[in-house]
Amino acid sequence: MRVSINKIKEMKQKGEKISMLTAYDYVTAKIVDEAGVPLILVGDSLGMVVLGYESTIPVTIEEMLHHTRAVVRGTSKALVVGDMPFMTYHVSVEDALRNAARFIQEAGTQAVKLEGGVTVAEKVRRIVDCGIPVMGHIGLTPQSINQFGGHKIQGKTPEVAARLLEDARALDDAGAFAIVLETVPAPLAALITRKISIPTIGIGAGINCDGQVQVINDILGSYTDFVPKHAKQYAKLVDIMSSAISEYHDEVKSGKFPTDAQSFSMDESILVEIDK
Ligand code: KIV
Repeated sequence: MRVSINKIKEMKQKGEKISMLTAYDYVTAKIVDEAGVPLILVGDSLGMVVLGYESTIPVTIEEMLHHTRAVVRGTSKALVVGDMPFMTYHVSVEDALRNAARFIQEAGTQAVKLEGGVTVAEKVRRIVDCGIPVMGHIGLTPQSINQFGGHKIQGKTPEVAARLLEDARALDDAGAFAIVLETVPAPLAALITRKISIPTIGIGAGINCDGQVQVINDILGSYTDFVPKHAKQYAKLVDIMSSAISEYHDEVKSGKFPTDAQSFSMDESILVEIDK
């Protein structure tokens, strides 16, 4: 049985911290699932950490669905959330409904995530009314990076802090089951967490959120083009991968690989027969 949205909401009530990680492929999703992480996000960060785009803006719904299917195949316990990419929920409610449904029907996720607060609340309500759980996302929302003028912390002024609280309340009222708070000051995230009924999942939002989410490549140290301040590296996979690849390359060149252990033998009389 997969984790349900009720279980995630219950965790807030019980004061149990919620961990969430991104995944973009079958193998990684399987490891995350087996580690017991209850929420897996197929984030549109896919665009940067897997596809090599400069931002999340070029990511298409087809790219998202392709990777999301692989993640769903690799998991059996976690609740998988599909991230709706730029412009798949902005134009109309109808568009938002159809595209949200694609994640559930074609990729097999249990929920979708979209960025924005008050401005997307009506769409969130309509998607939820169709039976599709929605996770909100406010603060430094990467699809609006051009509007913010870069990766800047959000909510340090009274106006923006008040707007973020209003956004969180609007998403809670619209029926979202949780909200990602990205790159907002820790004390503001703590206040928002106290003021709404659903769990807050922080990324660069301090310890007092109900849960935490990280991009898996950041915690594993496998994407080093940009390492955000909020990321802690629990491993340095780039170093491990780089040394394994160099060793393989050297052994192929020097004739040390493969050995008999990696080769297959046969009855050599057959060779004599065909080599006449
Ligand atoms: O795309 C993503 O990985 C995200 C997380 C940073 C929350 O939206």
